[in-house]
Amino acid sequence: MKRVSILGATGSIGQSTVDLIRRHPERYDVAALTGGRNIAQLAKDAVALNADVAVTAHDDLLDELRRALAGRDIEVAAGQAALTEAATRPADWIMSAIVGVAGLAPGLAAVERGGILALANKESLVTAGPLLLRRAAEAGATILPVDSEHSGIFQALRGENPDEVERVIITASGGAFRDSPLSDLGHVTVAEASAHPNWDMGQRITIDSASMFNKAMEIIETKEFFGFTPEQIEVLIHPESIVHAVVGFRDGGLMAHMGAPDMRHAIGYALNWPERRDLPVERLSLSRLGTLTFREADPVRYKALRLARTVMDLGGLSGAVFNAAKERALDHFLNGHIGFLEMSDLVEGTLDSILSGDGLIDAEITLETVGHADHVTREQLDVMVRRRAG
Ligand SMILES: NC(=O)c1ccc[n+]([C@@H]2O[C@H](COP(=O)([O-])OP(=O)(O)OC[C@H]3O[C@@H](n4cnc5c(N)ncnc54)[C@H](OP(=O)(O)O)[C@@H]3O)[C@@H](O)[C@H]2O)c1
Repeated sequence: MKRVSILGATGSIGQSTVDLIRRHPERYDVAALTGGRNIAQLAKDAVALNADVAVTAHDDLLDELRRALAGRDIEVAAGQAALTEAATRPADWIMSAIVGVAGLAPGLAAVERGGILALANKESLVTAGPLLLRRAAEAGATILPVDSEHSGIFQALRGENPDEVERVIITASGGAFRDSPLSDLGHVTVAEASAHPNWDMGQRITIDSASMFNKAMEIIETKEFFGFTPEQIEVLIHPESIVHAVVGFRDGGLMAHMGAPDMRHAIGYALNWPERRDLPVERLSLSRLGTLTFREADPVRYKALRLARTVMDLGGLSGAVFNAAKERALDHFLNGHIGFLEMSDLVEGTLDSILSGDGLIDAEITLETVGHADHVTREQLDVMVRRRAG
């Protein structure tokens, strides 16, 4: 039996992970499930998977969770410390699928116990990649990427010498507005930005796909996780979302990873690694697909991609600043305070203003400095939003 835990079990990635684990009760023994506000789902899955402990991130929801699991032999807990404690419980495999920088502390705690961390939480690598990788190496933990692009690169590199890689290409669907003229995007609504043409994901990452902030995060993740230089990493718009990543070798050969747009592929690959096992994902018919198309990701249109290059050049805490600024800008878009295109303007303005500030970018990356950079950045972005409004 493989002992597993899921951090962020109630989310989009978490639910796909639950689905794969539920199909094989004979293979898995579930230690911890964590969630946020969706107590009904957390309790339902804790019962279905017979978890040892269910944890909500929110102290005020502990009673609700306790009531939902009354009479069951399942421990309950709440709050940040409980979340981190759940991540340190013995497990062979832990899924890190909390959204946002909130996933960093539990992810760090999880690698310190060794074993495998299946990493969906991209914010961990963007804000504190060197810290996470160093702690994993020290503890002898293995991190497996659970983003379709990074899983694709990882699979294409299997058995290859990374020194023979010339370049990598990650693809972007282009999101909800890929075919809309830039001039139309000033007034798009939250509902319009939340409709992804190919992938069924959480709302925040879906809007990040439309703004290309998701791809910007993925470029930074690619640099951090695989150690490629920024110049080696390319982005192409690929509306069909069938080719997730391509690795180009020094002899000119390209190894592409293809599959239906279903996150259960990347999750299942990490769950079964180093083996491959049957997964409940669509088998593609290439003849039915007929044509796959690719085009350049226009750097003028997609400011987020340009900002990612700035972050990769700067290093240090610039990833934490970038992530906090884009998360906060998205909060303001969701609340109707700013327009869709203003998000990237505000992230750029915040990065510039923090860069010209007090040496924050160059501080050592620790949980505390990431937290500080995150806090200062959100405050700075709020100031800029207020200035715009008034
Ligand atoms: N969705 C995808 O297809 C996809 C693909 C690749 C990578 N990712 C990455 O995977 C991560 C999860 O994405 P998602 O789309 O699954 O997000 P999601 O659907 O929004 O789910 C997020 C999970 O985190 C929990 N959560 C929210 N705020 C929290 C907090 N402050 N502390 C602890 N837990 C909290 C949520 O709980 P409640 O829902 O109960 O409140 C939920 O379980 C993100 O980093 C994302 O970028 C996602």
